[in-house]
Amino acid sequence: MAAAGGGKDETWSGRAAFILAAIGSAVGIGNLVRFPYQAGENGGGAFVIVYMVAVFFIGLPVLMAELYLGRRGGGSPVAAIKRLAASEGASSAWGMMAWIGMLASFLIVTFYSVIAGWLLYFMVYMVGDLFASVGANGLGALFGPAFVGREADDVTGTFGALLASPGTMILYHGIFIAVCTFIVSRGVKGGIEKAATLLMPVFFVLLLVLSIISMTTGNAGEALNFLFAPDLGKLGAQFMNGEILVNAIGQAFFSLSLGSAMMITYGIYLSRDTSIPSSAMTVAAADTSVALIAGLAIFPVVFQFGLPAAGGLGLIFGPLLLAFQQMPLGGLFGIAFFAMGVFAALTSAIALFEVPAATAKGDFDLDDAERSKRRFMGTLLIGGLIFVIGVLHAFSQVPIGSDGSGGNFFNEWKPFGNLPLLGGKTLLDATDTLTGSVMLPLGGFLVSVFAGYAVTQSSSREELGFATEKAYQRWRFLIRYICPFFVGLILVWGAVLAPIIAMLTASS
Ligand code: TRP
Repeated sequence: MAAAGGGKDETWSGRAAFILAAIGSAVGIGNLVRFPYQAGENGGGAFVIVYMVAVFFIGLPVLMAELYLGRRGGGSPVAAIKRLAASEGASSAWGMMAWIGMLASFLIVTFYSVIAGWLLYFMVYMVGDLFASVGANGLGALFGPAFVGREADDVTGTFGALLASPGTMILYHGIFIAVCTFIVSRGVKGGIEKAATLLMPVFFVLLLVLSIISMTTGNAGEALNFLFAPDLGKLGAQFMNGEILVNAIGQAFFSLSLGSAMMITYGIYLSRDTSIPSSAMTVAAADTSVALIAGLAIFPVVFQFGLPAAGGLGLIFGPLLLAFQQMPLGGLFGIAFFAMGVFAALTSAIALFEVPAATAKGDFDLDDAERSKRRFMGTLLIGGLIFVIGVLHAFSQVPIGSDGSGGNFFNEWKPFGNLPLLGGKTLLDATDTLTGSVMLPLGGFLVSVFAGYAVTQSSSREELGFATEKAYQRWRFLIRYICPFFVGLILVWGAVLAPIIAMLTASS
């Protein structure tokens, strides 16, 4: 069965194109910034182990399920789930699952684009710096450090200066989302696939070169130790407070792009002769390798210059700039680093964007001409909306001075008041938390229950096409028992109990 409906969908040109696009969606700011940040906050090696277990035993089965649901349903993401539910005798209310996912994708891309804009800004900024340096000191400066002759405070302060300039943030966010809109408007083969096959190989080369430079010039020993030698005592203690588990599963979902109907949408374009289990395996393995190699590109520099391992976003944009000033090749290294970030972010943002775009395109009841017209018009409209909401996010990041200077409505506005979990956060942070801690786990939970219980065994067995019945039964066990249990647990713990406890302990 191609799909329960009669129509035809756009398809990937082949297995390789699909895998590159899916890896492109998975590999993004989540790997380059969020993973090192999470590893740093959660004690390094201990987190890495728990994370890898979460990827392969919880993320991977859900990834297979999403691809399978999309391909089996066909059409638009919401219609795909509804159609599948109907043909399996389940309630059409399951369509809600895709709506929630689509909304999550849309919300994520509104702030993802702003952060990608920061990466783009620094890429441009460092190119300018290199030119200035070569102009002043001759061609030899090409291989020298960045920001020659500038004070340390001045260098780390460039991130603060960017945040204090909403106009600059909006400009780069605007450029980034305009490029995304252009790519998505061109459709699956002509847009998304082309971008991924062009950008991902460059990305891999940059990542490899950067990690080699970093490992040879930085403190490789300490980085390896930090990432791969878990402190088991710490692991035990952290496990008890549950946080490491919540963070590891949350990171696995974010990094593998799950719970947001995105992989369902990519599954819609998947042809029947591409094996879902082996493609999903490849995507999960590649995504995890990129996260680890990114750690090997970042932590040697971090330890070499005594930067804090748990520095978060501030780590990438502040102190790392300082490292570029002190290391040989710092100018080129910095440009390559931010270019790599921009490419990775671009292939992820177009994937997120594709979910509402595919929804706007509509289902099989429309003819092909109408669907491509709707994709085009819908993409423009959605791109415009993402831009506008991103502008609000950008304003929400402007720092407020101790004297109250720099205040604008959006950096003072805490949209969720005192609500546990979201209270006291600015629009961007609240959107990040709402999607990452609530909507993605909820989406993942629903996918597990739908694929594990609502859909018949014969249908999932046939569509997934595992090589052996034993492998299929293993997937089925994970999707029915392990995934819903742990994802449900982090949903209840991470989104409900922990914030309430934190609020109570803070006020007592
Ligand atoms: N996985 C991407 C990253 O690591 C971000 C991303 C793309 C995403 N699509 C998603 C996150 C869907 C959640 C859901 O940066």
